[in-house]
Amino acid sequence: MITDGPSHPEPALDRAVAHVRARVSNRPRLGLILGSGLSDLADVVEHPVVLETADIPGYQGSTVQGHKGRLVFGRLEGVDVVFVQGRLHVYEGHSVADATFPVRLLAALGVEGLIITNAAGGIRTDFVPGTLMWITDHIPFAFRDIPAPTSVSSRPGREAPTPWDLEWTSRAADIADRLGIPTRSGTYLWTLGPSYETKAEIRMFAGFGADAVGMSTVPEAIVARDLSVEVLGISTITNHAAGLGHETLDHSEVLEVGRQVRADLQRLITALVGEFGTRSR
Ligand code: HPA
Repeated sequence: MITDGPSHPEPALDRAVAHVRARVSNRPRLGLILGSGLSDLADVVEHPVVLETADIPGYQGSTVQGHKGRLVFGRLEGVDVVFVQGRLHVYEGHSVADATFPVRLLAALGVEGLIITNAAGGIRTDFVPGTLMWITDHIPFAFRDIPAPTSVSSRPGREAPTPWDLEWTSRAADIADRLGIPTRSGTYLWTLGPSYETKAEIRMFAGFGADAVGMSTVPEAIVARDLSVEVLGISTITNHAAGLGHETLDHSEVLEVGRQVRADLQRLITALVGEFGTRSR
């Protein structure tokens, strides 16, 4: 297990909060992290205030195509929200602490719930491109310790962190049903990347019981839950893993399928935000 503790002392977080508060008057209750090809989901926000993450103290830069590097604050369905465009991946060279800085920032800003989206490869053969999968469990296969100092610490001998809010997930699945949007549930395997997997790896992951594979989300979810933020995870299956069923697999295919499911995901996320807004504080 490789451990990389926070490279930023807490003052960076305090400065980041001050930076945001000086520019944004809304107080987001709900955060949404947008995965590859899903950045446009923030377009529906009313009265948007956009901050470039490069200007925020302590916030590292995203280097990946399809990831914009912005925080979009605004209102949706009467709820103050913040969308994170441009997640940071460990494979970009960021420490886990840096890659999860956005989550600590959102928690420090008062966010109570976090919807995490991603693009993932489908390992189950019936998880065809375009399938939406609720993440109900995960396999951490990136061999990184995730600093989670409070409730779900990964210190030796402690329970493995299970950040997924299954009650919220079940309510979310009902909402999708009512909207006529098909969804599935499954186990997400977090791999470091950045290359896609070999066919042999995917056979192994299938044997482990993984339903989908991707390069993000798990650290964000664990850190959020550790900070008492409720977590809902949803994967957009953009391809059969390792191109099984395809000859080639590249990032442009991942982005294209992300765009195609955008309309369904947009309706779903809007409804999920509305439901979140009905909860008492
Ligand atoms: N593997 C890993 N990450 C991914 C994939 C994949 O096949 N598709 C989208 N993100």
